[in-house]
Amino acid sequence: MKTAGKKEDQPIGVFDSGIGGLTVVRALTKRLPHENIVYFGDTARVPYGPKSPQVVREYAAQDVAFLMGHRVKMVVVACNTVSAVALDVVQKIAGVPVVGVIQPGAVAAVKETTRKRVGIIGTLTTVSSQAYAHAIRGIARDVQVFSRACPLFVPLAEEGWIDHQVTRMVAKEYLFPLTLEKIDTLILGCTHYPVLRDAIEAAIGPGVRLVDSGEATALEVERMLQTHALCNSSADRPNLQFFVSDIPAKFAEVGERFLGQTMGRVKRIPIEGGGVAPLR
Ligand code: DGL
Repeated sequence: MKTAGKKEDQPIGVFDSGIGGLTVVRALTKRLPHENIVYFGDTARVPYGPKSPQVVREYAAQDVAFLMGHRVKMVVVACNTVSAVALDVVQKIAGVPVVGVIQPGAVAAVKETTRKRVGIIGTLTTVSSQAYAHAIRGIARDVQVFSRACPLFVPLAEEGWIDHQVTRMVAKEYLFPLTLEKIDTLILGCTHYPVLRDAIEAAIGPGVRLVDSGEATALEVERMLQTHALCNSSADRPNLQFFVSDIPAKFAEVGERFLGQTMGRVKRIPIEGGGVAPLR
């Protein structure tokens, strides 16, 4: 466990159901290159997207408890599914500022839309929760929201089928109903989707702006760090640490594609005995 001196030097804790949250780390390191980061990917229990909110809430509680053991100064919930159904659980446990991806993504989409017609794509649980729709309506009541779950995008991104005809076909199939709604803005409401950006862009057609909720979140993290006087001003190379709950080999291999840089050592840790917590 790293013991830091000044609060500003402490790392930002980021967690996700698995590998996808590395797209959020990528956005964070781009915007905040001096920040230390501790990342946890729950690779033993991924995917969260098709699971019930109750199960996702139990997992999220364990995930954030792990990060708090690393004395993080802030928690970023990179996972859209967790942000959609368990942000309150994370906030209760963390005791430090928490940023999820839904609200920043919603704010960015409202700024982008001109015809006030926004599409949202995400996992089954994110879409059924209507978290993005509620967040958007909380900002601008007159924006119409159209959602579509795209679960196959997750394995396609992990398989590395980025420029692949199967991915292009799946994208067309999923996004066709949204093209009929004449949306002008589309939220990539899942950690994996930025990796498939080109296929999504081609399927949704020209004139639709894509909002990467990870990038929007990095902006919000920067704002929060400033508000809480937590920015790391050290010119040292930041320390990025990666932890997973199942074998790290594949994580490191696939993860570099998501992260956009090499990752160094990935450590495996037990999370709740490495198994599924009993349901109450
Ligand atoms: N990280 C998840 C999300 O952003 C996608 C992968 C999963 O289903 O666990 O919703």
